[in-house]
Amino acid sequence: MGGTSDKRHPWWERGVVYQVYPRSFQDSDGDGVGDLAGIEARLDYIAALGVDAVWLSPIFPSPMADFGYDVADYCDVEPLFGTLEDFDRLLAAAHARGLKLLLDFVPNHSSDQHPWFAESRSCRDNPKRDWYIWRDAIAGPDGERLPPNNWISDFGGSAWEWDEATGQFYLHAFLAQQPDLNWRSAELKAAMLGAMRFWFERGVDGFRIDVLWHIVKAQGLPDNPPNPAWAPGVNERDRVLQLHSTDQPEAHAISAEMRALADGYGERLLVGEIFLPNDRLARWHGTPEAPQVHLPFNFCLIENSWDAEVIGKLIADYEASLPLWGWPNWVLGSHDAPRIAARIGEAQARVAMMLLLTLRGTPTLYQGDELAIGAVPIPPEKVRDPRELRQPGIGLGRDPSRTPMPWDGSPNAGFSLAEPWLPLNPDWPARNVAAQEAEPGSMLTLTRALLRLRRAEPALAVGNYRQVACEGALLAYGRRSGDTHLLVTLNLGAEPVALPDQALGGQRLLSTLAGEAHELRGNEGVVFRL
Ligand code: NOJ
Repeated sequence: MGGTSDKRHPWWERGVVYQVYPRSFQDSDGDGVGDLAGIEARLDYIAALGVDAVWLSPIFPSPMADFGYDVADYCDVEPLFGTLEDFDRLLAAAHARGLKLLLDFVPNHSSDQHPWFAESRSCRDNPKRDWYIWRDAIAGPDGERLPPNNWISDFGGSAWEWDEATGQFYLHAFLAQQPDLNWRSAELKAAMLGAMRFWFERGVDGFRIDVLWHIVKAQGLPDNPPNPAWAPGVNERDRVLQLHSTDQPEAHAISAEMRALADGYGERLLVGEIFLPNDRLARWHGTPEAPQVHLPFNFCLIENSWDAEVIGKLIADYEASLPLWGWPNWVLGSHDAPRIAARIGEAQARVAMMLLLTLRGTPTLYQGDELAIGAVPIPPEKVRDPRELRQPGIGLGRDPSRTPMPWDGSPNAGFSLAEPWLPLNPDWPARNVAAQEAEPGSMLTLTRALLRLRRAEPALAVGNYRQVACEGALLAYGRRSGDTHLLVTLNLGAEPVALPDQALGGQRLLSTLAGEAHELRGNEGVVFRL
């Protein structure tokens, strides 16, 4: 027994976040698209998993050009998903089960259908003109009209769209239907912080903040430098380095303002979507006097190869990069990333789940990864993702990770009475929640066991991290809290490896495989108590 009390840690340090993609969780009204009442109906499932918080991808009114990341009203609910009353019911139902609820705030851009943009584009002297980023064209060598700089949209093509009516370009880091907001405008900033306040006052427990590092651009909008590493066949976005279009000092000031606002409501959480190397990521924690987001999202497990030495090093590097007041976080999958089981296979996805849920820091678990949903082929006529449609065939499509949750063996896997908006995983008759609930060796059973262990052993959630081995296929680390000393041993290969000496005599708490052996079997992970 023993162990440090975890009471000193706020809920978001001890807890596990579960990401729900609302279009694909549960449909309640038979239109083939998930909704809030559907999520409410499945809350018992989420609570029984053993997670602590739910992050909902955007639920706001949206023309769905980027499936909700194009917001037409920051203070309402998309009718496809329900109403504000449905939201209030969902929030109360989540809280009644001890679950926190995070919304997905999209501050960098709105929809081009937002009334603010309609006003802004109506004429050059509209008071909301500078709520967006408008610039004159520049003349090319032959007098042709060129965009103001060389910035490239993350979805390919110029980041500038010509507006015939007012004779200027507007900036869009993503789709032309997602014009960038101008956070240098005090009125715009006040309106957006007001939207955060609106949801805090309704009782949400925090936000995941979309592309936070994009939120302010360098004064004068200088050209971005070319990226020497870019080659055709790679995302066009990467032709230039986003030096002047992202990660500006003023963005950190806004991040600190958002934090101050959140702190005014008690223990609320801000997760910043920030895609940067460790040294620059770490700055988004802010300082003790001026803290910024609680969790600058750490994508390194998604971005690196599945190799014990690589992962051992990236954990050490990430841990070393954190300021003393910072708290780590980890993620293996999302609505933007390839499914982990598609990337490394189901056998290793089990090991990956053990890694995710035994590292120091807050894990985020993406819906469906607890079933090890793997590759889902999307026939060309079913492709919906604008990123794939704009740059087809180079592996940018996100539809395969956004397919509906398979709940049971009934028609459409119990997701909807109608044909789902995206195809189901082809193996859904066997790979679904009901089937895996009944199976002791399933990924779902393993995920629940890991979450139970994490809850029972504060050393896993909040203890110290110490690397023990990372060589060949073996990754091993200790997690210690007070007198509790746990050892996590992971075999990232298919061949058996010897257990580290420290494991000998230890008590096996959980394995990713049935049975036990004196070695670490291929594709096996084991947690020991020492
Ligand atoms: C990041 C979101 O996760 C992604 O789905 C979206 O397309 C972009 N931001 C633009 O909002």
